[in-house]
Amino acid sequence: MLTLARRLAPAVLKRGFWTLRTAASDRRRARSRKRELRRLMRVFGVRRGKHAAELEYWQMCWEREGGRLNNEHFRKRFLAMAGEPDAELLRGKVVADFGCGPRGSLCWATAARERIGIDVLIDAYRRFGIERHNMTYVRSYESHIPLATHSIDVLFTLNALDHVDRFEPLCAELLRILRPGGTFIGSFNLDEPPSETEPQLLTEERIAAGLLRRLRVVSCRVAPKGPDDDCYRYFFRAPPLGRAGPRILWVRGEKPSGVERPAPDG
Ligand SMILES: C[S@@+](CC[C@H](N)C(=O)[O-])C[C@H]1O[C@@H](n2cnc3c(N)ncnc32)[C@H](O)[C@@H]1O
Repeated sequence: MLTLARRLAPAVLKRGFWTLRTAASDRRRARSRKRELRRLMRVFGVRRGKHAAELEYWQMCWEREGGRLNNEHFRKRFLAMAGEPDAELLRGKVVADFGCGPRGSLCWATAARERIGIDVLIDAYRRFGIERHNMTYVRSYESHIPLATHSIDVLFTLNALDHVDRFEPLCAELLRILRPGGTFIGSFNLDEPPSETEPQLLTEERIAAGLLRRLRVVSCRVAPKGPDDDCYRYFFRAPPLGRAGPRILWVRGEKPSGVERPAPDG
């Protein structure tokens, strides 16, 4: 006991007892989080902690929503992002959603000729019953989307590009698969500090440089992020005055026909 006290004394004097206690409990928490992620990696058959954490979120939604994943909200949200009153824009088109998640985000888009969900976790999402959706699913990689160049007419992405490991290469991939004259419609969470599942800090400048510079922007709107259960609220009604904190960017753009190379800076 005395030996331990002697050993700890200099550190206690230097950093204070409470700092040491907090550091120890932080380490304990980090260890138990690591153990939990390893368990989830085994359960879901994934190799990365980041993917296990993503799946932990969907498992929680599945339980909260009574053994299913609701998808009724996507129609209203995607049409609002597009600035369209109905789904006519999609009629007869090949439509895709990058970072689609397991909910069946394009099930509502029945006017489309084909509905494609692209996600890095497609294999693991099968346990949530995605094969019952009227969609085709494609497993994406961190810097490559296995779809043909110019194969997509309308490309959605919603709250996904801050989740990727490599933002710029995936932006290039999105632009590659979109056909010239095709429509890009995206929602991006801005200003959020990087986390386990969201390694990218997105800013307007970064999105402009990676994507918008190569599109003809049709609309671009920014609103404060709403509460967790309704984070797009302030695209539908005015935010309280002076509301600060993270924001969300909605953009719709068209890929110019015949432009294959990025425009020069400036
Ligand atoms: C927050 S979820 C959003 C899901 C869906 N868009 C929604 O709003 O319900 C982010 C999704 O991005 C996916 N994702 C992360 N990195 C990816 C990558 N490199 N390629 C494709 N999808 C990726 C995740 O697997 C996850 O399904």
